[in-house]
Amino acid sequence: MPMPDAHPEVPSTGPVPAHPETVMPATVEDPSVRDAYAAFLRAYPSYAGTAKLDALRTSEYWRLDEYGHVYLDYTGGSVHADSQVRHHMELVRAGVFGNPHSSNPTSSFSTELIARARACVLRFFGAPPEEYGVIFTANATHALKLVGESYPFEAGDQFLLTFDNHNSVNGIREFDRVHGARTSYVPMLPPSLRVDEATLDVFLGTARPDGHNLFAYPAQSNFSGVQHPFEWIERAQRRGWDVLLDAAAFVPTNPLDLGRWHPDFVALSFYKMFGYPTGIGALIARWSALAKLRRPWFAGGTISVASVQADRYHLAHGAAAFEDGTVNYTNIPAVEIGLDYLESVGVDVVHERVRCLTGWMLDRLLAMRHANGRPLIRLYGPRSTRMRGGTVTINFYDPEGHVIDHALVEERATAHKISLRTGCFCNPGAGELALGLSRDEIVGCFRSAGDHMEYEDFRRCIDGKSTGAVRVSVGIATNFADVHTFLSFVRGFLG
Ligand SMILES: Cc1ncc(COP(=O)(O)O)c(C=O)c1O
Repeated sequence: MPMPDAHPEVPSTGPVPAHPETVMPATVEDPSVRDAYAAFLRAYPSYAGTAKLDALRTSEYWRLDEYGHVYLDYTGGSVHADSQVRHHMELVRAGVFGNPHSSNPTSSFSTELIARARACVLRFFGAPPEEYGVIFTANATHALKLVGESYPFEAGDQFLLTFDNHNSVNGIREFDRVHGARTSYVPMLPPSLRVDEATLDVFLGTARPDGHNLFAYPAQSNFSGVQHPFEWIERAQRRGWDVLLDAAAFVPTNPLDLGRWHPDFVALSFYKMFGYPTGIGALIARWSALAKLRRPWFAGGTISVASVQADRYHLAHGAAAFEDGTVNYTNIPAVEIGLDYLESVGVDVVHERVRCLTGWMLDRLLAMRHANGRPLIRLYGPRSTRMRGGTVTINFYDPEGHVIDHALVEERATAHKISLRTGCFCNPGAGELALGLSRDEIVGCFRSAGDHMEYEDFRRCIDGKSTGAVRVSVGIATNFADVHTFLSFVRGFLG
């Protein structure tokens, strides 16, 4: 029987349509870069202590330079080291993996590797196994949803969260509303986009005694790079809150010690930490907090026993009760490989490199001025590296002070093979505060849109103001040349 024609838009299989042209990327040996690099080292001498990452750039991340990519979207996702994939492929090619929900030899093999990966996650974050468990999920969003849909909200309970949150945390409010609980947002203060501690205390004081109170915040903002204090965890818990820490943007370049800090729930995605594999995240949860959750259903893998005729079921003990269906059992071992890799590099080394490069970028960006003296960019978030990560969000302005559409910036960046991000990065609260969009304006747009609104309609509605920004973020494989190339690109907007 002849095969039907392939859909015309679907490329046929064959060589990966990857990155065909090879361009020579800038290096610190280039005369144009050398002077800037020397000035950078004078300003950030500790960068020299991160030189092992330059060696890894050649051995593990050669693809970036081979294809001339300036990758600046580490908050979107990290890039993987060559050896991670190699080691994983060796494991998969040599092993016979069975579905883990059984006790036959191949199933036991998978089960053992999954158990090792769980133990490795706990070890990596210093989490005592008697206090914390690891639930493998598809990503951070899935981990957050598990908490949201299972948290025992009742009428009068409260879900408290910072304005600064990813939509995957914001979305939990839809679960609490179904149960008659209340959602409250703690505001942040522009321009630093940090939370005022006294205001937070007022909100924390509203926990319902003997009720269920959930407080969620990001360890690091995916919008502004702000790092919110870990001290909030205990402060909130003392006042009756369970604390959900969104660590997705924080853990790729900062150490998280769950022996020192004790959030009830932690959500993360592994591809953000080490690029490979995608499709796996974790909910790391205290056993005591997990015991409070009420799963809204049961599924294969989550029960110890279920009956059709008796119409009853019992959930499995521990993490299994939260892992619906078959876990990603050939890829989960790659999490252990990735964590081992990151540990061998040293999160502290990555952190220091990111701090130096971010500091330099901030210094240079804030100094850029048009010929008439007007600033070229506006920064959203902290101006120094204190309590902030390597995520830098800005807008560009022309000499008359009009914002330059971020879509145009992205278009030009793409032409330079610079991968950055534009829009609101799924963090509307931070975006609305940073960009000065009022509640009335936004409500008006939703009202006038009727049943449905596309992002472009929203942009048109918020007339004259930018509805988004440009985000660059640095990470494990970033070098000085990447940042230098980006800064040269930015300078191209000077008038
Ligand atoms: C702070 C933060 N939380 C949650 C997420 C959601 O992660 P994922 O899309 O992997 O589920 C992201 C993704 O960018 C993030 O930056």
